[in-house]
Amino acid sequence: MTTSTSSDSQRTIRMAQKRISGFSKLSKEEKLAWVTEHFFEDSAAAENLIKSFYHRDDAAQKMLDGISENTLTNYFLPYSVAPNFVINDKTYTVPMAIEESSVVAAAASAAKFWSTRGGFQAEVLGTVKVGQVHFLWSGDGTVLKAAFESVKQQMLVDTDHITKRMCERGGGILSIELLDKSEIEAGYFQIHARFETCDSMGANFINSNLEAFAETLSNWGEKQPDEIEIIMSILSNLTPECLVRASVSCPVEHLGSFEGGMSAEHFARRFELALRIAKEDPYRATTHNKGFFNGLDAVCIATANDFRALEACGHAYAARDGQYRSLTHCKVEDGAFTFWIDFPIAIGTVGGLTKVHPLASKSLEMLGNPSAQELMCIMTCVGLAQNFGAVKSLVTTGIQHGHMKMHLANILLQLSATEQESKQTMEHFADRVVSHSGVREYLETLRG
Ligand code: MEV
Repeated sequence: MTTSTSSDSQRTIRMAQKRISGFSKLSKEEKLAWVTEHFFEDSAAAENLIKSFYHRDDAAQKMLDGISENTLTNYFLPYSVAPNFVINDKTYTVPMAIEESSVVAAAASAAKFWSTRGGFQAEVLGTVKVGQVHFLWSGDGTVLKAAFESVKQQMLVDTDHITKRMCERGGGILSIELLDKSEIEAGYFQIHARFETCDSMGANFINSNLEAFAETLSNWGEKQPDEIEIIMSILSNLTPECLVRASVSCPVEHLGSFEGGMSAEHFARRFELALRIAKEDPYRATTHNKGFFNGLDAVCIATANDFRALEACGHAYAARDGQYRSLTHCKVEDGAFTFWIDFPIAIGTVGGLTKVHPLASKSLEMLGNPSAQELMCIMTCVGLAQNFGAVKSLVTTGIQHGHMKMHLANILLQLSATEQESKQTMEHFADRVVSHSGVREYLETLRG
């Protein structure tokens, strides 16, 4: 009993030592010292390791520190490229930042495959983004509805200073609508606004406008006998009107033959069935869509766009009819194989980190400094390529065939294999099942 009380209090002391107030006010050195002292067995070694990831150029490091908050160091991801992406008859080498080794290989292979079969076609179907002001109105809804047209005109006047430059670039506020949501909560209304933000993702632009709308609305409310209570003003990451359609298509016989002698017709049938399964079965749909996002996110990160926003939007869109389904579709009709997607993708090529992060700006240069619309097409095609590559492997060789080859390279790296040892181990495992212990044992035999 006594023992447990004393160990409880020791635990409490240890936990208290791991809490801190005013952390964000400490210098970077002090933050690092506090973290390494409290959370690592060997704080000096941890500090050295963490510092070894600093950029050698102080100015670049300062810029990287400035991007986020409480930064200790930089977190590296491999930065790769997938060449031979033919999209709308233009050839791109696409930058991809991702940790999963097989993703880039699959993207590059699918890009090459389709480059000799007409390439990818992509078009932007819309670029509209959405924002909402959520509020409560204690008065009669009809009074609010009747007054809304003039409140809306005032909103446009009050946001003039925010929208002026965007309007000059061809964008701005497209519509402002009042929605009665009192079925959710008595007196709950929304302002649902639509925006065009040109080459920027536009989050700050949209949010500034929404907050200004809320203020105009509050000002109107102050003159009323009843009350307006603004709950929140924020853009929506669901952008079903900011849409790209991307596809690949070729005569079935041009698909060629596949591993194990699988014919083009047989492949097309299996691929199309795999897509139907992903459409109907949410378990499969989730993994299927993950394959699409493997490609999309990697380009998104390489160009410093917000992959969380694209993921949230994509998954909501995948469930738009009430069931989570595959984002991509396939048909085999009149002897033609077609694989396509309609994907909502709100990204930017100006603003945000796109020009601040040196590698993001190099990624954009590598892509020929595309407009936001062109980048929407590129990203969607890389996702489509990735999804094609994954499903192609699944319905032909199985996924482990390719994955394990990549995995083997990682294991060899972990076990510090020399070039010669790696070569021999690769040959040995060419037709054997790869496992960590198997590779370790084989290396031990090589090393005697
Ligand atoms: C792995 O990261 C992605 C896949 O599981 C996608 C799929 O199953 O379609 C291979």
